[in-house]
Amino acid sequence: MEICSTFTYILLFLSTLLLYYLSRKEKRKQSKLHKERAKLPPGSMGWPCIGETLQLYSQDPNAFFTTKQKKYGDIFKTHILGCPCVMLASPEAAKFVLVTHAHLFKPTYPTSKEKMIGPSALFFHQGDYHTNLRKLVQSSLSPEAIRKLIPDIEALVVSSLESWAIGQVINTFREMKKLSFEVGILSIFSHLDSKYREELKENYCTVVKGYNSFPTNLPGSAYQKALTARKRLGEILREIIWERKEKKLLEKDLLGHLLNFKDSKGQTLTEDQISDNIIGVLFAAQDTTASVLTWLLKYLHDHPKLLEAVKGEQKAIYKRNDRGNRPLTWSQTRNMPLTHRVILESLRMASIISFTFREAVVDVEYEGYLIPKGWKVMPLFRNIHHNPEFFNDPQSFDPSRFEVAPKPNTYMPFGNGVHACPGNELAKLEMLVLVHHLVTKFRWEVIGCQSMVQYSPFPVPHSGLPARFWNESKSLEVLP
Ligand code: HEM
Repeated sequence: MEICSTFTYILLFLSTLLLYYLSRKEKRKQSKLHKERAKLPPGSMGWPCIGETLQLYSQDPNAFFTTKQKKYGDIFKTHILGCPCVMLASPEAAKFVLVTHAHLFKPTYPTSKEKMIGPSALFFHQGDYHTNLRKLVQSSLSPEAIRKLIPDIEALVVSSLESWAIGQVINTFREMKKLSFEVGILSIFSHLDSKYREELKENYCTVVKGYNSFPTNLPGSAYQKALTARKRLGEILREIIWERKEKKLLEKDLLGHLLNFKDSKGQTLTEDQISDNIIGVLFAAQDTTASVLTWLLKYLHDHPKLLEAVKGEQKAIYKRNDRGNRPLTWSQTRNMPLTHRVILESLRMASIISFTFREAVVDVEYEGYLIPKGWKVMPLFRNIHHNPEFFNDPQSFDPSRFEVAPKPNTYMPFGNGVHACPGNELAKLEMLVLVHHLVTKFRWEVIGCQSMVQYSPFPVPHSGLPARFWNESKSLEVLP
């Protein structure tokens, strides 16, 4: 009897093994068939190891992508920065990767960059952790939350403008970075003690310099200095968190949301998770907004008629607000149609986030092409924004094109899908408030020829757009 049951077990075991082997074989066959059916997209993989990295960096990166698109079409392969990549320049392909099939592609960043910001920052993640954190970030940046920030944003904007209007040439981008940092701090901490603010600012600047430098272990290098500053940032944030807990303050800012969070199992966030996300949001908010603000000033400066029309729209609000003696209201910021279109067009023209990166987590077939597992996928926002099929005469600055909504999935300055920018309303609000105060009370002149672009790493006008500002508020007192 015992021999019989042992025999049955062995038989069962062997048949399970056989079934497993056969199903694996079938899967492999299917996957081979799939690979044979779908082919890799057209394109060149360049030289062994370095691929086409040199070509990419020896010219304007946008020229690289555009030449490739002309040669190979909307989907093409290349090899850059040590990775095989598939580039996607059609709205449908971008939607496939970022929205409808986002689960097949994960966010991907170099480890050195992840380490610098903090590995728990939401944009490195997918799934439940990402969803939970995203809800917190979104609610702290929702229209209900940011409308309360208007008076503080106004105060920051006015004091920045006044500090620029002292007759000296300023580096517009550098000054815009200071402003967007302060607005970022406001949305994260509401009001932050100046001792913390200054220390955060100093260490944060060192981190940003290192983030954009070559990652090396050499002592004294920008990267090593940045790692030390990043450690200090963590310590300062821990002190702020501790103080907030001590005082039992129930703020509705991002820090408040992060501190109050509990998942379905009652688990709260660790201090490292909180600080990684605070640094992540600051990082996502600062240079992006500052670059677009700098372009906005350049475009307004280069189009005097448009500037006059924007002035007309803003001066009407200024007069209704008792010549600036009453603060801007949320509904006024929602009713600046021309200024809003100028902002939309600046975001399109500048396309400061030219593309984003994802990585295929499995073999994916798209439009008959194979995107192999592990390959990087890059939706090319700028190419889509500058395609005459979607934006007529794309190189001309024409806000009136936004009188009609763009075709679906053709306009993505803030990305698309699960990782789309949760700070887009705050960024636009900051721009509206800045334009209001700038054109109603100030005049500015751009210094030197400004046709060149520099990458830092986002595109900005050359040398950060040197400019001189004047305060005109006195002459406005005599407005009819
Ligand atoms: C004009 C200014 C801005 C531009 C052009 C911009 C653009 C973008 C884009 C394109 C993405 C998606 C990246 C991807 O899919 O890989 C993104 C994500 C993000 N942005 Fe912005 N952004 C701006 C300002 C801000 C501001 C002011 C904040 C916060 C205060 C912010 C916070 C974030 C965060 C946290 C993410 C990651 C979201 C996620 O992974 O779920 N951004 N941004």
